[in-house]
Amino acid sequence: MTEQLLVSRDAGVCEVRFNRPEKRNAITYAMYQALVGALQDAQADSSVRVVLLGGEGSAFCAGNDLQDFLAGPKFTPAHPVMALLRMLATFAKPLVAAVQGPTVGIGVTMLLHCDLVVAARSAQLSMPFVALGLVPEAGSSLLLPHLVGRQRAAELLLLGRPIDALAAQGLGIVNRAVEDAALAGEAHSLARSLAQQPERALAETRRLLRGDPAPLLERIEEEARIFGAQLETEEFRDRVRAFLTRGRST
Ligand code: COA
Repeated sequence: MTEQLLVSRDAGVCEVRFNRPEKRNAITYAMYQALVGALQDAQADSSVRVVLLGGEGSAFCAGNDLQDFLAGPKFTPAHPVMALLRMLATFAKPLVAAVQGPTVGIGVTMLLHCDLVVAARSAQLSMPFVALGLVPEAGSSLLLPHLVGRQRAAELLLLGRPIDALAAQGLGIVNRAVEDAALAGEAHSLARSLAQQPERALAETRRLLRGDPAPLLERIEEEARIFGAQLETEEFRDRVRAFLTRGRST
């Protein structure tokens, strides 16, 4: 397991934290592999009742590592991000997330699979897929309109501008917006409360709330086909190169 993912367990809560703060917790291929492994372990371990996701440093997660998109292993149906997305869509235990600072791309779309999300006031959520020459992923093109309405989803996904914690709370993407100093305490308290609920009733209620995962899984695959094709375009590569070389003379 990479040191860029920290996993700890306490009182029925498995906490999984991105630990690449110098790159704002942008997720690499190795981190996706580690995350899938951590979630598989948490699902199989009967002492784990809840998974709590978080990130070290000033940002929850800056999305997929853009350098990896250019130079990393090719995006195929076997890429660990796909295993992660299928797992998030069908995960059998409650997922809680605590987010602060920049929260971008898959950093946001993974929240749509969580049961409870706490955001610090510093949180800035954005899904700039289109601006990068990409399309939404993680089933967000299906989940987001259901959650916030089609027009609001269009604004978030077509323009990709950041929204703050209070706006995200107003839209229902996060449950609570709290001061940064209160983030960890609030998220742990919610996770522990869930861990103390009767297990079967909690699991069944989650299953009912989430409904049939088949359309979601289909959408994840459909988005991935288009996403993969867009990754090969010059419009995408130009945008990413521009970000990675910004502020540097050529
Ligand atoms: N992939 C790879 N590297 C990333 C990254 C990403 N998604 N996001 C940030 N980084 C790197 C930066 O290149 C920089 O590296 P450097 O110190 O070697 O130059 C470092 O992380 C810090 O980033 P910086 O932009 O200086 O931090 P910030 O706090 O001012 O801004 C963000 C944070 C997240 C708003 C900004 O980095 C950003 O917009 N990142 C791109 C997000 C993105 O487009 N993700 C993909 C969505 S599909």
